[in-house]
Amino acid sequence: MADGINTIGVLTSGGDAPGMNACIRSVVRSAITAGKKVIGVRRGYTGLLEEDLVEMNSHSVSDIIQKGGTILYTARCPEMRTPEGQDKAAEICRKHGIDGLVVIGGDGSFQGAARLAERGINTVGLPGTIDNDIACTEYTIGFDTAVNTAMECIDKIRDTSTSHERCSIIEVMGRGAGYIAEWCGISNGAEEILTAETYDNDINGIINRVKTMRAKGKKHYIIINAESVGHSYEMAKKIEEGTGMETRATVLGHIQRGGSPTARDRVYATEFGAKAVDLLLEGKTKRVVGYMRGEFMDFDIAQALAMRKTLDPWLMSLNGRLERM
Ligand code: ADP
Ligand code: F6P
Repeated sequence: MADGINTIGVLTSGGDAPGMNACIRSVVRSAITAGKKVIGVRRGYTGLLEEDLVEMNSHSVSDIIQKGGTILYTARCPEMRTPEGQDKAAEICRKHGIDGLVVIGGDGSFQGAARLAERGINTVGLPGTIDNDIACTEYTIGFDTAVNTAMECIDKIRDTSTSHERCSIIEVMGRGAGYIAEWCGISNGAEEILTAETYDNDINGIINRVKTMRAKGKKHYIIINAESVGHSYEMAKKIEEGTGMETRATVLGHIQRGGSPTARDRVYATEFGAKAVDLLLEGKTKRVVGYMRGEFMDFDIAQALAMRKTLDPWLMSLNGRLERM
């Protein structure tokens, strides 16, 4: 149980995600409304260990709700994985009076928050990653924008692919997880969705399906390939050799991480931020907030990290049902 909170810190950690700014804004303004002091920690745990701190007021977060990236910057910090780094980080929080810390990031960032909680700093994690690979939540900040960005890019590739009657393989981000691939596959009406979770490495199967669809008169063949499967250029070469259909590979890359957040990312990020402040003010610590079946709920960080989620088999089955005719 946390003691009374006077100063709330906020940081972003791991890969940035559109909507993080809306979340920071919500944390800062919710805390100020409750009469608390707010300290922004720049560059995630790296900045915490370097005491790169800035006091924030309501104007510090003006004009950022619509902006991609994170005004607090972000970093990956190997030192925070060590007990010495964690001791030092907790000591720095104490030195600056940070008695509640909101950590916006992914599973790795939550591990850091858990270690700080064990050292007496009250922490709440908020899911911020375009990958949507956090098990205690159906939604993560940035996923919706990333999927919409990727979808628009893939629509453009489809135009040229159809004109040239080509096969296109498009690689999307997601680290080890196929959620962006799954959603692009369905929203772009792709012929194939390849994810590490589901792909059987049967390139000959793909080649045969391309040939069959070609024979049926398909003008293009769109394959969404998750980053975790990779090898898009090699696969394109093999498909072209095996089918005789010109094939091009495109790796969308970091374009998926930038840009103005969608309404959904802004609204949910705002709700997450307010919820984190409420939890800290209620005396909660070592929590992570998730969104499940229409509700925001919070979990113990260890419990959240032990949870598992999988791609939606129903969505994946729809791809097979709708696209190969
Ligand atoms: P994400 O938060 O998106 O999963 P990372 O896995 O890169 O991204 O983690 C972000 C940061 O969180 C790391 O750079 C590190 O500082 C911290 N972190 C990751 N794993 C741990 C851990 N096991 N213990 C403490 N801190 C960790
Ligand atoms: O976690 C977000 C993410 O964009 C992943 O999809 C991707 O694997 C990784 O970060 C890329 O990291 P970096 O920006 O370090 O290249």
